[in-house]
Amino acid sequence: MESALITPYSRPARWIHWITAALVLLVIPFGLIMMRLPSGPAQDQLFDLHRSIGFTILCLAVLRVFVRIINGAPPAAAALPAWQRVVSQVVHYLLYVLIFVMPLLGWATSSAFGAPVSVFGLFTLPDLVAKNEPLSDALGAAHTYLGYAMTVLVLIHIGAAVFHGVIQRDGVLSRMIPALSRR
Ligand code: HEM
Ligand code: HEM
Repeated sequence: MESALITPYSRPARWIHWITAALVLLVIPFGLIMMRLPSGPAQDQLFDLHRSIGFTILCLAVLRVFVRIINGAPPAAAALPAWQRVVSQVVHYLLYVLIFVMPLLGWATSSAFGAPVSVFGLFTLPDLVAKNEPLSDALGAAHTYLGYAMTVLVLIHIGAAVFHGVIQRDGVLSRMIPALSRR
């Protein structure tokens, strides 16, 4: 049952969550598609977009940690069984780690490959490591496999949010979309 007793995440936390969610839902398909396109201008443009969006996610992740430290998170929804509390915390923690590790790995992969990272054509990031193709292959493989793992986690996370919001209607989704509790 939805109720007015639900404590939502702070407004900045919600904004950062939803902007990051939208960007993650763009950066993953762009990554998957760009790797399967033939070399050419379309692939180059998707690479630039993928890197620029990925770097934006990193900046938002830094901001997000400050907001989380300052505002904290609301206490877990009371009706939540203990196992769901534990699983959701593990998934959230892994997603937090990945919004830092994925952009940094991608950035290091590009630097090691010898491809400077331009952010929306506005400025160019410094290289994280020197040019080194074997290192770029290894970092790229780690970025790829963690990217697949992140895709699975994001799908589980979205599935759980929809399950709580549509089937259980237990107020968990309202913590990120407080408008849902106003009936
Ligand atoms: C459209 C898809 C998404 C929906 C519907 C959604 C929904 C939610 C909801 C309802 C919560 C609150 C859960 C709770 O209070 O226990 C939450 C928290 C969270 N979400 Fe999402 N989310 C989505 C996408 C994403 C994506 C792509 C990420 C990847 C980074 C993400 C990362 C997180 C994290 C880290 C938390 C925990 C926040 C904290 O406790 O500080 N979400 N999400
Ligand atoms: C949360 C952020 C990010 C996610 C979730 C993500 C995800 C992905 C995915 C799914 C792929 C496709 C892998 C494949 O199918 O082969 C990929 C490839 C790639 N991404 Fe990202 N990415 C992110 C950020 C970045 C950033 C910031 C950069 C660079 C500045 C970057 C650079 C690359 C590169 C160079 C590849 C090709 C890897 C290779 O050569 O195997 N990514 N990314």
